[in-house]
Amino acid sequence: MIRQMPLLEIHNLSVTFTNYQGTSSVLDRVRLSVEKGEILGLVGESGCGKSVTARAVLGLIPMPPGKIGSGSIRFKGEDLTRASKKRMRGIRGNEISMIFQEPMSCLNPVFTVGNQMREVIRIHRRLRGRQAEELCADMLSRVQMPDPLAVLKKYPHELSGGMRQRVMIAMELVCGPDLLIADEPTTALDVTVQGQVLAILMKLSRERDISVLMITHDMGVVAQVCDRVAVMYAGRVVETAPVKQLFSDPRHPYTRGLIASIPDMDGTGCLHSIPGNVPGLIDPPKGCRFHPRCEDRITPCDIRVPELEAVSPDHYVACHAVETAGPEQGEDR
Ligand SMILES: Nc1ncnc2c1ncn2[C@@H]1O[C@H](COP(=O)(O)OP(=O)(O)OP(=O)(O)O)[C@@H](O)[C@H]1O
Ligand SMILES: [Mg+2]
Repeated sequence: MIRQMPLLEIHNLSVTFTNYQGTSSVLDRVRLSVEKGEILGLVGESGCGKSVTARAVLGLIPMPPGKIGSGSIRFKGEDLTRASKKRMRGIRGNEISMIFQEPMSCLNPVFTVGNQMREVIRIHRRLRGRQAEELCADMLSRVQMPDPLAVLKKYPHELSGGMRQRVMIAMELVCGPDLLIADEPTTALDVTVQGQVLAILMKLSRERDISVLMITHDMGVVAQVCDRVAVMYAGRVVETAPVKQLFSDPRHPYTRGLIASIPDMDGTGCLHSIPGNVPGLIDPPKGCRFHPRCEDRITPCDIRVPELEAVSPDHYVACHAVETAGPEQGEDR
């Protein structure tokens, strides 16, 4: 079967940041792909490089101190690492949209929601007046905002956190992106509102065939919304799998640790934590970056970097201790 080209394909992407202390290897040969219409979860501990990956896709790595050392980011076949600043401005907000953890940082406090939405519509859709007003109200009702016409007259601070995040989603969707990058979109919300916002994102993704790169450190969010998952550790992707498979058969010791640290629903189990700390990235551990914390480590782990290899057709793991079917054949999963 010939596989369709993924919408987004990150291949061997390496990013460094240099400051007076030295050069940190923040992303090391990151490989992942997002298919058309799928929701890919990108998970891992704080500082593992999730947001830097997102920023690299959007062409928003500050250079210097950042530098893309190698690799490619193919979006609809075009390598974004080679795109001009003008081209990237055209892609951002049109073909690729992004929503952040704290919507207040993206909404302007001195303008009403209506003002800000109409401005986005004027720029991206070239609509004004009645048509813009109708589109605003339509987008707000798509994100299940009660009484959209009243919300348009409000200032951001008059809305709750969940409502602000819905306004952000509505604004980002005005331009009809192919890919939505959501960086911890629900972390600041309480669980019930989080559930509503995630359900809206899922519905919109399905209805409009929008791919989503869902960045989170919350495995509960992953289980709830994602089709496939990429697990990152200290700047590398260590495992990718369809979501059910990742939870039922996690292979990388780090993924197993992440899953074991999810609290039990009944609160009876003791909370597991992965021993040790995330390593510094100026002088990261040789070989597998997880080996100093790993209970399964074997001889080559502290010498040789494990490559992502297939354990089953859509399941890849980078671990010397896991028996695999061999190196991946030209696919970046
Ligand atoms: N502008 C920058 N200058 C220097 N270092 C940076 C910069 N941006 C990110 N980094 C470093 O890159 C590493 C990865 O950061 P990143 O923000 O991608 O982590 P993350 O996985 O998104 O974490 P979190 O879950 O806390 O959001 C960190 O060590 C961070 O200090
Ligand atoms: Mg982040």
